[in-house]
Amino acid sequence: MKSDKIPQIRDVFSSKIGVIAAAAGSAVGLGNIWKFPYITGVYGGAAFLFVYLGFIALIGLPIMLSEFMIGRKSRSNVFGAFKNLAPNSPWKYVGLLGVAAAVMILSFYGVVAGWSIDYIVKSLTDGFASKSPDELGIMFTQFIETPGLPIFYQLLFMLMTMAIVIIGVKDGIEKYAKILMPILILIIIVLDIRAVTLDGAKEGLNFLFHPDFSKLTADGVLSALGHAFFSLSLGMGTLITYGSYIGKQNNLAKTALIVTVSDTLIAILAGIAIFPAVFAFGIEPSSGPGLVFITLPNVFQQMPGGFFFSILFFLLLTVAALTSSISILEVVGAYFREELKIKRNLATVLATVMISIVGIFCSLSMGMFKEQTLFGLNFFDLLDWISANMLLPLGGLFISLFMGWYWGRKMIEDELANGSKLSRGLISAFIFVLKFIAPGAIAIVFLNGLGVF
Ligand code: PHE
Repeated sequence: MKSDKIPQIRDVFSSKIGVIAAAAGSAVGLGNIWKFPYITGVYGGAAFLFVYLGFIALIGLPIMLSEFMIGRKSRSNVFGAFKNLAPNSPWKYVGLLGVAAAVMILSFYGVVAGWSIDYIVKSLTDGFASKSPDELGIMFTQFIETPGLPIFYQLLFMLMTMAIVIIGVKDGIEKYAKILMPILILIIIVLDIRAVTLDGAKEGLNFLFHPDFSKLTADGVLSALGHAFFSLSLGMGTLITYGSYIGKQNNLAKTALIVTVSDTLIAILAGIAIFPAVFAFGIEPSSGPGLVFITLPNVFQQMPGGFFFSILFFLLLTVAALTSSISILEVVGAYFREELKIKRNLATVLATVMISIVGIFCSLSMGMFKEQTLFGLNFFDLLDWISANMLLPLGGLFISLFMGWYWGRKMIEDELANGSKLSRGLISAFIFVLKFIAPGAIAIVFLNGLGVF
């Protein structure tokens, strides 16, 4: 095992706020504002939300703390972390699973972030003005089906991600994220106020908050689990990688709690902005990946200053996507650097090129390759499904087993003794969840979702 000293070549976050900003920046992104409302709509609303919240509290939070601990202890990328902490064992392959998930996720993530950039431009040119909900729907579909512009914006977004990772996280994005994220939250709250005061808003709130558990399917439960991992950036080593940059005195438990709660609140706030409007404008809640892009332009039209708010909203959504995408690219980059011994900048460029190429196919699968499907899913949805619903929960399963059974109580107590003062009872509960509850629940939901029983 490596010594506890932080090797000079590795960056360390400068402050407590810096750690929270970076981890929350990773967690809060398209997952909260684009994906959460859209899959909540697909899986029928409140019942999905409640199951999702259950997974966040019971499984997400303990695994987030575990990832931070593994990262800080090993001071390594996700593959190296398991290699250092469990030498000569197959645990390191959990790291490879994470790298694969990162490649898949960033491929389609870049496409959606590209849509968001296009919507900044559309906002600037007043492109939503006097369009009906139907017309806005058609506008979105036609846009994502064309081969040119979406790929251009996707590549632009990937270039921005790469540039930030190369220039350095601390001086650039971390500083701005601290200012911009609170503004994004404020805008969502303004949108919430407008949305809930629309005619017919109540139906939307009922959809989001009054559960009908009979609507829940095994696939829906698996997606709620997968999304808990996706939204909190868990299961693939993002927070192991970030944890490796966290100093010894940081209270990891508190950091994990703050990040989990903020991420969840922002998703719910996004839901409150979307669903009342969905019902008010007669949009199908289950309309899929376009939900946010179709619904919100309608809301902007119905509010004073809508022109201004829409520019700001899509701009900040892009920034939120950037603070997440850099954390995904960093998983692959750190692996290339430290395990394959590729030089820092070259590693980042190579990872970006590889992911961008896969991403181009994701974008094309919305239009040109729409008919090419596997298990009824196009390439974009397939990568999303495999990464979020399979690789991340599997990663989480192994991480909890690793902590609960391989590390065990003594190591966990030692690591928590650095800065995190948890009572003995809480530590026992934490270990119990890692040993039994998390792996058991993940295994059952996973097998059930795959139709094994
Ligand atoms: N959590 C990010 C979001 O919600 C996406 C992400 C997934 C980031 C996995 C890192 C790892 O947008």
